Amino acid sequence: MNNFINLISDALSDGTFINAVFSNPRKSDDFKKITAAPITMNHSLYIQFTRFKDNKAFHENVQVHEASDFILSHCAGFKQIQCFTALHDYHILVNKKGKATIQAKPPSKKSPVSISHNRKKSYILDTPTSAPFLKALDIMDANGQIKPSKYDKYKQINRYLEIVSDTLEVLPTSSLRIVDFGCGKSYLTFALYHYLNTILGRKAVVIGLDLKEDVIAFCNDLSKKLGFNDLNFQVGDIGHYTTDQQIDMVVSLHACNTATDSALLKAISWQSKVILAVPCCHHEAYMQIHNETLDTVLKYGLLKERMAALITDGMRANMLETVGYKVNVVEFIDMVHTPKNILLRAVLKSSVNFDQTSYKKYEELCHMLNLDLSLAKLLKEDPLYADYLR
Ligand SMILES: C[S@@+](CC[C@H](N)C(=O)[O-])C[C@H]1O[C@@H](n2cnc3c(N)ncnc32)[C@H](O)[C@@H]1O
Repeated sequence: MNNFINLISDALSDGTFINAVFSNPRKSDDFKKITAAPITMNHSLYIQFTRFKDNKAFHENVQVHEASDFILSHCAGFKQIQCFTALHDYHILVNKKGKATIQAKPPSKKSPVSISHNRKKSYILDTPTSAPFLKALDIMDANGQIKPSKYDKYKQINRYLEIVSDTLEVLPTSSLRIVDFGCGKSYLTFALYHYLNTILGRKAVVIGLDLKEDVIAFCNDLSKKLGFNDLNFQVGDIGHYTTDQQIDMVVSLHACNTATDSALLKAISWQSKVILAVPCCHHEAYMQIHNETLDTVLKYGLLKERMAALITDGMRANMLETVGYKVNVVEFIDMVHTPKNILLRAVLKSSVNFDQTSYKKYEELCHMLNLDLSLAKLLKEDPLYADYLR
């Protein structure tokens, strides 16, 4: 979806939308202008779209949750959009290819109708100004406003913190240690540290690990500038990382291909209470997967890629359950932003457990699909599990 439609749809769902004007149509025989504004009818809230043509106005009222679809089908052909929200005034220019340039200014209007009806989405980082790391990572501007081009990132950070908050009750309250494997530029690592230490006042030591020296140097520098004393970054390969400290939570977000398996293995062998993993690039299964019956579908590269990804993640989830974790598979962020949006949330139920029935099913599926995946291979070499996996 185009980013300006995302922006309007976010304002609609957050309850901050005031009105919008779509003008300057690309085709001369189209409607000259379309306006959108909330109205209440019979105590229900609608968005009224008014289309102007030949000095006539045509009204259409649509329910708030259908407004983005209306915009997508009727308003995408305009070159210029002004959108007023309670947070920003947006001036949007859309080029021929549909690419939007978005300028945000402080809000000039107050909402005449409360669109929220208690629907206003409350984010964990709802006062961005109190989270200076957002500015340092270029998500927030100098005036404390989230940059329009970074709004998706801001939403992703908040979604991540919501998922973290759901796991807090199983984590130690006194102090905790977390490792973020494949932390990259560490938007989410900084957010995690800020949330636990600054917002919740818990004492969390967070270590970010990545292969890239320059990225790690940048993150350590930033951590120092922000005074995040217990947030440290190290250069290294997940598979070789060792520690003699108890690690309560392991995070691995978008680490490539089998790097996720190395991270899961570390967490399992440390018996970490919580694992959050968003796998990415499932080349291993893609290269192996084969089944004569399924070849009718697997011959299409894109479908093979998607199926390889879903099956790998399903099998990872199953393997985590086999070794004693309770696993939820949840959407990380909206599917419109990226197909890589599956998050495995695993919470340790019982330590050093092994469910033979579950593993037998895993093996059957491997056999059926010609798979020999890394997590099981790594566990076969782990002293805790080697005896269980033949
Ligand atoms: C796509 S980035 C994701 C960054 C961050 N976690 C996020 O979600 O925004 C993946 C990162 O994983 C790192 N990575 C991949 N394999 C790794 C390994 N074996 N050990 C350490 N880091 C690894 C890469 O260097 C890269 O920075």
